[in-house]
Amino acid sequence: MAKGEDIFKKIIAHCKEYGFIFPSSEIYDGLSAVYDYGQNGAELKNNIKDYWWRSMVQYHENIVGLDSAIFMHPTVWKASGHLEAFNDPLIDNKDSKKRYRADVLIEDHLAKLEEKIEKEVSKAAKKFGDSFDDKMFRETNPRVQANQAKIDEIKSRFVPALENEKLDELRQLIEDLGIACPVSGSRNWTDVRQFNLMFSTQMGSASDGASKIYLRPETAQGIFVNYLNVQKTGRKKLPFGIAQIGKAFRNEIVARQFIFRMREFEQMEMQFFVRPGQEKEWFEYWKEERMRWHLALGIPEEMFRVHTHDKLAHYANAAVDIEFKFPFGFKELEGVHSRTDFDLGAHQKFSGKKLQYFDPETEESYVPYVVETSIGLDRTFLAILTHAYKEETLEDGSERVVMNIPPALAPVKIAVLPLVKKDGLPEKGREIFDRLKYDFHCQYEDKDAIGRRYRRQDATGTPYCITIDHQTLEDNTVTIRERDSMKQERIPTEKIAGVVAARTDLRPKH
Ligand code: GAP
Repeated sequence: MAKGEDIFKKIIAHCKEYGFIFPSSEIYDGLSAVYDYGQNGAELKNNIKDYWWRSMVQYHENIVGLDSAIFMHPTVWKASGHLEAFNDPLIDNKDSKKRYRADVLIEDHLAKLEEKIEKEVSKAAKKFGDSFDDKMFRETNPRVQANQAKIDEIKSRFVPALENEKLDELRQLIEDLGIACPVSGSRNWTDVRQFNLMFSTQMGSASDGASKIYLRPETAQGIFVNYLNVQKTGRKKLPFGIAQIGKAFRNEIVARQFIFRMREFEQMEMQFFVRPGQEKEWFEYWKEERMRWHLALGIPEEMFRVHTHDKLAHYANAAVDIEFKFPFGFKELEGVHSRTDFDLGAHQKFSGKKLQYFDPETEESYVPYVVETSIGLDRTFLAILTHAYKEETLEDGSERVVMNIPPALAPVKIAVLPLVKKDGLPEKGREIFDRLKYDFHCQYEDKDAIGRRYRRQDATGTPYCITIDHQTLEDNTVTIRERDSMKQERIPTEKIAGVVAARTDLRPKH
């Protein structure tokens, strides 16, 4: 098993063991690609939402929040193009009976070629050290050149086939590249077909003529249909943004990789309304701003990369993905899309209601253009979690699993631990806990040896453990243990809140 896959399996098991994530309806053997967040997962998820909401809504004067309904008028999805175009090309392997996305099979093949190039480059970089010229090497090394030529050749067929929905050509490409089913190893494929990803349900009872409605596949449309409500009631001038966090639903063909691709998930989206012609400028701005947001969490830059879309969605004139290095490779974490006036224009047409903005500066009315930032909450959770998971061998030879979750996002900030369960230490511990709990999410624990309690807190990413010992009763000091370094300091009890607050501040550092 590859190292990344091995670690990923351990992380999934860890998530369950420590109350981060459980399979949905587990006692009935689960429901494919649907998950529940446990006691620690719910806290971490809420902290990520809070961090995003504050960075977007609170720290940007020209962005406001919204909480729109999941159910929407069915014509919304006609106007948005989702009924027509929100499809994935699927293909089945006749031997394993497994279903795949045809485009993902080809993208995985391309990723393997790119990986070969990167291996070659990093080998040479190590060999030549400071004198290594990355650009020159890529342009002249025969093996890199050969793989690059293969990539270019594949893309020259793949991109137009995807863009023009040439399903036969996608099928042909899979055959020509000799792509085999990862399960059966066979190349016995069906034709490629289109598959709409929206879930539908009925609203009202059959007797009064129930109507077919959809579970929203993105939160963005709730923002578009409320654009004028917010602009008018908030007296907003362009440019301004509307942000929203909420559930979205997609009947994914290949739901896999734990919470990476789910059928029910959460998005954190922001639509930024701008004057037509200024969208490219704002697209660049949001690309950089969003990358700063990710880096402010303290995750190193090399864990991210920006991928420019080969195939643009039906609504976009420019789009990038911010990708994260998950244990199974670089994959999309967030999209930044320049959506033009596609959505507002379409809603104006289908609803017959004007969705124009009167610009007092130019004295013109127009349909605004939109730049959107769209990030998956669950994927952000997964990125933070997979980066945080560390297995360490300590100086005394013992092992620990520690979650280096950014302290500001950690589910529990302080564990209050009386050294022993007697001599008045639990009472003192409770007194400290009761004082801290109004400012921090704390946990009180007095069972088991102190070492075991530290390990449990490390495993859920608690950044600070406060230990109450006999000296505490004499001079009102405690030891404070920092999760990553395991260093302990003795401080007066009245300083605990200040020390922890300074180090767990949720404020983005930019
Ligand atoms: N409004 C634009 C939009 O929805 P998208 O690229 O389809 O764009 C945005 O989705 C983000 O939502 C993705 O970058 C990803 O983080 C998250 N996402 C999409 N599908 C998902 C799924 N099936 N499971 C988990 N997250 C998903």
